[in-house]
Amino acid sequence: MLPIRRDLHFSIDPARVCDWHGRGRIVTHFMNALSLFFPDGERFFIHSVRYYRERLADPELRDAVTAFIGQEAMHGREHTAYNGAMAAAGLPAEPLQRRVAALLEQLKVILPAPTQLGITIALEHLTAIMANALLAHPDLIEGSDPNYSALWRWHALEETEHKAVAFDVYERTVGTGATAYAVRASSLVVASTIFAALVFAYHLRLVAADPKARKVRDGLRMVGFLYGRKGLLRRIAGPWLDYFRPGFHPWQHDNRALLDEIDAFTARIEREMLTAA
Ligand SMILES: [Fe+2]
Ligand SMILES: [Fe+2]
Repeated sequence: MLPIRRDLHFSIDPARVCDWHGRGRIVTHFMNALSLFFPDGERFFIHSVRYYRERLADPELRDAVTAFIGQEAMHGREHTAYNGAMAAAGLPAEPLQRRVAALLEQLKVILPAPTQLGITIALEHLTAIMANALLAHPDLIEGSDPNYSALWRWHALEETEHKAVAFDVYERTVGTGATAYAVRASSLVVASTIFAALVFAYHLRLVAADPKARKVRDGLRMVGFLYGRKGLLRRIAGPWLDYFRPGFHPWQHDNRALLDEIDAFTARIEREMLTAA
């Protein structure tokens, strides 16, 4: 699977940034909280993978790394615009993003390269299983503003497309032995714990900054979205655990069929970009 860099723009309506999700403002701010992590998170992924690119003997994997970097850079650009809309709406997007950036800069200084790559593949696993949930269960985003859902759909499709790239780099460079396994498995535990705690805190900050978000009905919809029988956490719990199997590889979750729509989707967005221009 060779990922393709697609230079797509999504004209999200800044006026809808606090209530674009079909399930109301609190779910909207949950997704918004995730968006705050992307630009700097993706720069960190690029940094950790690029370090190994020239050491790869396999030219195909080197090309995949180049495409991976291109895709993550495009995601970062679009989420930066999205996060700018949050800031313009009076949400504390800038200070919250600065904190993510500072944390990741620290990690770049204190962690050795293999551990940085271990953190990257752990976070790529998290994004891949969330992307799969979103694509395989469209009810999680149904009824939402079409431009915001298109942006999330594009990101989910490309996260699926490149989900094994950093993982393959890890296996070829850090290895597949006991130490490499210990670093990758412990990285998922640490990265998931810190990420979940930060998303929770950021979500609270965004909801607190939006006076219209304090509605019991929206709160209940959020509980259902995350913890319900068909909620996000139920959808990702099993795939999250699979990562701890010693021989795990991201394509053992074979969801290539979800990518069948990617060309038609890209063509539609490109047409919309032309119309908007
Ligand atoms: Fe991404
Ligand atoms: Fe990614």
